[in-house]
Amino acid sequence: AAAEKGNYDHFMLKEINEQPGVIRNIISKYFNNYEINLNPSLIKSINNSSRIYILAAGTSMHAGLVGKRLLEQLTNKPVEVHIASEFAYYRPILDTNPFFILISQSGETADLRACLTYLRSNKYKTLTITNVITSTLAREADYALEIYAGPEIAVASTKAYIAQISVLAILAYELSAKDFDLKLELSKVAQAIENFLADTENLQALVSKYFKKEHAFYIGRGIDYATALEAALKLKEISYIHTEGFAAGELKHGTIALIEDGTPVIALISDETINLNTRSNLHEVKSRGAIPIIVTLESLKQKGDDIILDDVHPLLTPLVMVVPTQLISYYAALNLGFDIDKPRNLAKSVTVE
Ligand code: G6P
Repeated sequence: AAAEKGNYDHFMLKEINEQPGVIRNIISKYFNNYEINLNPSLIKSINNSSRIYILAAGTSMHAGLVGKRLLEQLTNKPVEVHIASEFAYYRPILDTNPFFILISQSGETADLRACLTYLRSNKYKTLTITNVITSTLAREADYALEIYAGPEIAVASTKAYIAQISVLAILAYELSAKDFDLKLELSKVAQAIENFLADTENLQALVSKYFKKEHAFYIGRGIDYATALEAALKLKEISYIHTEGFAAGELKHGTIALIEDGTPVIALISDETINLNTRSNLHEVKSRGAIPIIVTLESLKQKGDDIILDDVHPLLTPLVMVVPTQLISYYAALNLGFDIDKPRNLAKSVTVE
């Protein structure tokens, strides 16, 4: 039954709407009142390491970028994120005592299996974070954590991404001084997503009006840059609109040449520190003909901003910021008449290198 579309036209829309429930489910699986259910030996192994390496592909790699920030901010331990297919054959100089986190929705991605073969033969400690706890990568790693997103059918990953980040947050928190209430903050995130999903008419109107051009850009700074990369991947994979995610300050150093009349540029702004800088970057592209669209939080909003989300804990903003970008992709592809759940050339799980 979990694999049926219910009242939704597409699995992707169903899965987007399941996200608040997925977060609540993760809370119930990992928190026992206020105790966190994580293997003490896993925690010890990460605590003993000098550096964490996150390996992943596609959307899971983008979750890794968010995970890097969560882990670094909460544990003070350096974290590197590597594309699995690169790490498999071109490795960085590893720290003296590395710990590896492999993130994979399916747990079967060949690029990651190639990494794991190398890691195991060198006896490095590994953790797989996955939606399929019986998968190859989960079985072959030293440790495995389940993200409990339920089956994800649409090729474009949405709820698994949210779930990966939530589990990374719980892991990072368990490794930290725990000076805030993560359980409460995650439940606020679930509520914020629910509030947003309750009324998306304005977003749908925006998409119908502007998302039919050849190109689009997402811009953001800091953690919003990570979300911009994921948002761009999501839009291009199902709408076939060529989309790039850019560090907001970097667009002007070359790629701004691609901005034409009507090119949508969506700015993601979830942090006070960069609010004005990113707005000024958006202004630059607007004066070159771009359609500026702002996605931001209640506390940072200005008059005329397009999409406003409820504030959440500053470390958890990527969980809410990504949701409108998922829906932008969905409605863009819907308007253009493409096969949303099974985009051309793509597979849900890629088992060849
Ligand atoms: C494929 C899918 C992507 C996914 C990537 C990694 O390319 O089309 O949506 O992000 O594989 O998959 P994984 O199962 O390892 O997370």
